Amino acid sequence: MKVISLFQFASAAAALKEWAPAGPSDSRSPCPGLNTLANHGYLPHDGKKISMSTFVSAITEAFNFDPSVGQFLASGAFQVFGLNPANDTLDLETLNTPGRLEHPASLSRHDQPGGDSLHVDPERVDAMLADSPHLFLDVVSAGVSRRRTFLESGRPNLTETIWTIMFGESSLTLIAMNNGTFPAAGAPTEEIYNIQAPKDWVKIWYEEERFPEGWTPFARSINLTELGAVGAVIRSEFVKS
Ligand code: HEM
Repeated sequence: MKVISLFQFASAAAALKEWAPAGPSDSRSPCPGLNTLANHGYLPHDGKKISMSTFVSAITEAFNFDPSVGQFLASGAFQVFGLNPANDTLDLETLNTPGRLEHPASLSRHDQPGGDSLHVDPERVDAMLADSPHLFLDVVSAGVSRRRTFLESGRPNLTETIWTIMFGESSLTLIAMNNGTFPAAGAPTEEIYNIQAPKDWVKIWYEEERFPEGWTPFARSINLTELGAVGAVIRSEFVKS
């Protein structure tokens, strides 16, 4: 039995590209998702001069998201920075520019100006984990975390676009670090409450920016509509909290 599970672990791990932490001259972003992709080599490890199509294929391949997800996220970024998706490129650290996609009340980073919005603060990650009484995060705890960080940041004035991005980021946390309980396509909204992101996986992903041992991408690809549906439920929990 033990031999089988070790074998299963080895084959799941073999499917992932090798991980190496960022070096001092590597460019990294305030995004745990993109930094993980660069650390694993799905994006260029130096995090520099990344084209739109490279972003989309890295996100699609590593997470097994539908290409609509990577397309939506990357094209939004290129648009915000006034870049031509056909031939311009982006360094990851550019994404830390305040007033574009970077925003206050992050789950794992401090606010600009004055705070480090680029690197993870493990204390903030622990606070997010403490928002759930379970061994996992879910849509209820994600709503609580959004409320807590909003209040801790002094109720910043945020545009509707930034709110949508923030609920999308909460949704991506639950979906990216999911233990396989994602509802089947077309399942009732209530099943979104069963999505569980194990705390030990969330901690490793945010703090070390790598895929945890035992993690595998979903067997079926998750699309933009499903991502948005999870974000909408988190927003409803935020309103209640
Ligand atoms: C080209 C695609 C992407 C772009 C341009 C992007 C950009 C960003 C930026 C600028 C932030 C920082 C927001 C802040 O100030 O807190 C961020 C945060 C975040 N991103 Fe991404 N991202 C992308 C893809 C992804 C993917 C694929 C995932 C996960 C699968 C992801 C998960 C997250 C999460 C969970 C946060 C919240 C971090 C926090 O609040 O501390 N992102 N992203």
